[in-house]
This record gives sequence, C-alpha cells and structure tokens, in this order.
Amino acid sequence: MVYKQIGIKKNKKRCVIIGDPVEHSLSPAMHNEAYKSLGIDSEFYFDKQRVKSEELGYYIDKFRTEKVRGITCTIPHKVEVMKYLDEIDEVARKIGAVNTVVNTNGTLKGYNTDYLGVAVPIDQCICLSEARYAIIGAGGAARGVAFVPFQEGAYMKIFNRTKDKARELAEEFNCDYAGIDEIENLDEFDVIINATSVGMGDLIDETPLVKKYITSKHIVFDAVYVPYETKLLREAKEKGVKMIHGIEMLLYQGMAQFELYTGHKAPEYIMRKVLMENLKF
Ligand code: ATR
Repeated sequence: MVYKQIGIKKNKKRCVIIGDPVEHSLSPAMHNEAYKSLGIDSEFYFDKQRVKSEELGYYIDKFRTEKVRGITCTIPHKVEVMKYLDEIDEVARKIGAVNTVVNTNGTLKGYNTDYLGVAVPIDQCICLSEARYAIIGAGGAARGVAFVPFQEGAYMKIFNRTKDKARELAEEFNCDYAGIDEIENLDEFDVIINATSVGMGDLIDETPLVKKYITSKHIVFDAVYVPYETKLLREAKEKGVKMIHGIEMLLYQGMAQFELYTGHKAPEYIMRKVLMENLKF
C-alpha cells in the first residue's frame, strides 16, 4: 500500500513554490484544490520549498533534472532566478522579473504572470489602453504594475515618497513622476494603484493617499492583500468608488501560472474560494 502511494506520487508532475520565507504561501492550496476540481490531482501536485538566496542555483539544477514541471518564484528569487534559465519570455525580460518557470524536458523558460494579476482585474472595469494611471510606489511591486500602462501605451504617472526612485522608474517606463507630497489632486486619473507597502504590517493603520484625493470617477486598486480591506480601500468604499482588492492580483497571476504548468483552463471559482477562505477575515 505504502509503495503504491509512493509510486503514484513518483509519477505525478510536481510544481513547487520557492521563496524565503515561504511557509505562509497560499499557492500550494490554491493549485492543489484546482487540480482536484478538474480531476487532475492524480497527474499533478504542488508543494513548497524554502530556498535561501545562496541555495537558488542548487535547487534550480535539482528541479531541472528531477523534471519538476513548474517553479513558482517569490521573494527574494524573482530577479536572481533569471540567470539560471534557458529562455525568458519577452514580457518577463522587460519587467526584469520572473515569477513562473516552466520545465519542458529539462529546458527552463521563465515568465512573469504578476502583471496579469494587475491587468486582468483592471480590464474588467475599464479599457486598459484608454485609462490614465496614478501609480503610488516605485519599488519592486511598482515595476510590475507600471508595465501594464506601459505595454498598453497608456498615460501614467508614478508618485513616490522618495522622488529620486520615482524618477528612476519613470525614466525606464518613459512616464511622468512626482513625490507623494506633491499631489494636489488626482482628477486627471481614472485608476489609482497603491504599489507601496503602506497599509500592511506595521503600516496597517496608514494609507498612502489622503482620502480627499479620491473622487467618484476613480477606480482604486490596492496591491496589498493582507489585510483583505486596507485603510485605502475602506476610504475608497466610503466614497462609493469602484475598488479592486489585492486578492485579485494573487488570483489572476495564479490562474495564468496554472495554465502554463498544466495546459488546462484554470478554475477561477475554486481558486478564488481558497484565497477568500484564507485571507478574508
Ligand atoms: P516591494 O518589492 O514590495 O515593492 P520595495 O521595493 O521595498 O518593496 O518598495 C516599497 C515601496 O513602498 C517604495 O515605493 C517605498 O517608498 P520609498 O521608495 O520612498 O522607500 C514605499 N513605502 C514604504 N513605506 C512607506 C511609507 N511609510 N510611506 C510612503 N511610502 C512607503
């Protein structure tokens, strides 16, 4: 019986999320439930592996030879992993980060599905290329966010506490920039996206944007997903504007990844349910 179980697992295609830390990742639950719902859990399983920065090369080689089908990369590996891959998708190359690696018979190709986590939910509300975007933040998360208007040829402006960092990112994406403290109003924008860490962790009681700048025409998107409803989104809700929760980003990047790993259409309802059950408290 035990051998039989091992045998079954050995024949399964493995997908794994690597990061440091990785214990709290919801990717294994989200993907495994999706496998079950499609009846492909006898073919695939998804687990997690804590990989420290200095161990990355070792694990990528190991996964390559063990024919691990998919490698999901999270902090701190999204940039470093690129040097171990055979091919990198054009979008991932421009963003400068890979969150998804597909292993096809030992050839590793890197993709970035994080930007779809931003593009898909916005696309459900407004025409992506015609919207005007105010992006708050200029760190790693903001890079993925800024790629969306960039790719669409849409107008965007980057606002950041440290104006020099806003300038650097703006030069790369060929857009306007300003310091957060220079905001006077955001009337010219349709979509406001928080890509800073304000609203989570120690900054849970803070918002990156004074409430008066949110007006009824705005769509407010917060990339922060813990807590489910940040102060920024609570204030947007009070104003009655359209909101996009950070959980949508997790969902749509995960769905695109699921499709790359399995070739099956991702079951949105099940994957959303896993995220909601774990994050909406
Ligand atoms: P990530 O990879 O999550 O984007 P990061 O690269 O460290 O993390 O970037 C964090 C972002 O949150 C930055 O834009 C940072 O602003 P600075 O460039 O000025 O540091 C922003 N941020 C963090 N704490 C902030 C705060 N208290 N107020 C405003 N912005 C803040």
